[in-house]
Amino acid sequence: MAMASLQLNNAIAKPLFMGMRPSFSYKKNSVGRIRCAATTPSKRYTITLLPGDGIGPEVISVATNVLKLAASLEGIEFDFQEMLVGGAALDSTGLPLPAETLSAAKQSDAVLLGAIGGYKWDKNEKHLKPETGLLQLRAGLQVFANLRPATVLPQLVDASTLKKEVAEGVDLMVVRELTGGIYFGKPRGFSVNENGQEIGFNTEVYATHEIDRIARVAFETARKRRGKLCSVDKANVLEASIFWRKRVMAIASEYPDVELSHMYVDNAAMQLVRDPKQFDTIVTNNIFGDILSDEASMITGSIGMLPSASLGESGPGLFEPIHGSAPDIAGQDKANPLATVLSAAMLLKYGLGEENAAKRIEAAVLDTLSRGYRTGDIYSSGNKLVGCKEMGEEVLKSVDSQVPAPV
Ligand code: IPM
Ligand code: MG
Repeated sequence: MAMASLQLNNAIAKPLFMGMRPSFSYKKNSVGRIRCAATTPSKRYTITLLPGDGIGPEVISVATNVLKLAASLEGIEFDFQEMLVGGAALDSTGLPLPAETLSAAKQSDAVLLGAIGGYKWDKNEKHLKPETGLLQLRAGLQVFANLRPATVLPQLVDASTLKKEVAEGVDLMVVRELTGGIYFGKPRGFSVNENGQEIGFNTEVYATHEIDRIARVAFETARKRRGKLCSVDKANVLEASIFWRKRVMAIASEYPDVELSHMYVDNAAMQLVRDPKQFDTIVTNNIFGDILSDEASMITGSIGMLPSASLGESGPGLFEPIHGSAPDIAGQDKANPLATVLSAAMLLKYGLGEENAAKRIEAAVLDTLSRGYRTGDIYSSGNKLVGCKEMGEEVLKSVDSQVPAPV
């Protein structure tokens, strides 16, 4: 099993090579295959792959190849197990999260997910929607902390819809609470009110421990970044937000070195497009985090670039791009696989504590972009327009050109 996923300081002791010196076989230009693997790999992890629906299988296939190659250069090997989730699971088992999928996920070291959902299942009853499978997976793995970084890469500054001077240099992290709030709160449902009108209702509710633990993750995250944390709420209207703010302020006393501020969510939505560089780390509830992370993604140029990590106190983390299944372009080799590739990097860093392998993936993505390769969503003139597969091959070439770690 993976080490506790929330060891965010990454001061994780790397497993020793136990006196063995693995020998490497070097094979040139074998893109897509493992060029350089330890013959006696010292580290082996089990990864559950959940391709899901729409563009999910395309982006997962690219990300898996990149993950394999980058990790092999650090002497790491994987056992992959592919399982069903979302619409794909509904079609073959009648459930959006089959019990075998959850149990395989729980027993693995980390979970890499593509995307779920599609027109076909949109009219399904709530408990048979693909989205319900994803929420059950998050709840089942107890991954309450969702890290969603939004970084404007110098290579993509022109892809942002914001002016260059506003977008340039943006580097923020949304820490979204993921297993509570209105997404899971009870009571919820449909009913009839005293006037005989049909109603739909949900409950935004947070208990002390839920806020305290996400606040601690956020303070720890901010501490390792630029030391600034902005807690986003709606404390001028909602009791759940008044309580959120009270607990965040209480936890702040444990982190005197982190500068804490508070912002109402409507203002935060505005400030994100007015002056996004004012933000370092943002902590917020489940629904505000859902909305603000989509907004933040556009600053970076495309939602197709944004990875995420969902972590719990212990057990495997769940790593997924923040974009959806994009059924309109599914199967057409048009998807941007980089959000999933970068999610694989987050899997290595936050899920397995394999920071060096993670850095290889990040460097390869930057190198590929520097070499001018762009999928349609991030294309600007003068660059080379490629599909999902070709983008994946170019990232593999970039990884392949890196020097293997000395072991
Ligand atoms: C996300 C998605 C999900 C969410 C949906 C697909 C349930 O929008 O991961 O941001 O709302 O959390
Ligand atoms: Mg969302």
